[in-house]
Amino acid sequence: MNHPINAKEQPEKRQLRLALFASGNGSNAAKLIEHFADHPRINCALVVCNKPQAGVIQRAEAAGVPVLLISRERFLQGDAYLPELRAAGIDWIILAGFLWKVPQALVTAFPGRMLNIHPALLPNYGGKGMYGRHVHEAVIAAGETESGITIHFVDEHYDHGDVVFQARCVVLPGDTPETLAARIHGLEHLHYPPVVEAAVLGHTNANA
Ligand code: GRF
Repeated sequence: MNHPINAKEQPEKRQLRLALFASGNGSNAAKLIEHFADHPRINCALVVCNKPQAGVIQRAEAAGVPVLLISRERFLQGDAYLPELRAAGIDWIILAGFLWKVPQALVTAFPGRMLNIHPALLPNYGGKGMYGRHVHEAVIAAGETESGITIHFVDEHYDHGDVVFQARCVVLPGDTPETLAARIHGLEHLHYPPVVEAAVLGHTNANA
């Protein structure tokens, strides 16, 4: 028998709240904030930053997103700021240029609910010390003709969890770390918001 749809019987779907972790300029965090600004199910609820002078702080404040400034000792050896994350009702953690290794306590508290973006095609050019300019320098020095981005789940090792999405771009003769970084940033800004959206809403494994 068919039941008529009664709006009152539909459970109210709670918004899923993201914490964006960033250490630097925050262009990816800004794209995520913009993408989810009017989203019916997903909300960028908090920006978590470890550097008081980072550009991401101004970007968050301009968009009206609260910022949590964290200290190294409490994050890495203390409670990883779990009380604040719980108080803010955070469901997912999205790393967007966050330079500290994520402590086990945080991985355990957000199982399968933490994503990172890396500016190369993992498993190559990842791991400790492989961030920002260092990645692009290494790719160019190795004579690669292709690089790209990797979006992956976070575990307790650097750049290690399951890959959700990769997209590729050329490395041109004469590329510098800066020109390659700009091309990679273009890919990141294009893909990170919709890939995060799909993962958070439960549809992973998209590929370019
Ligand atoms: C991005 O290239 C990202 O892949 C890496 O850090 C960079 C952050 O850039 N994890 P921005 O601060 O978002 O501009």
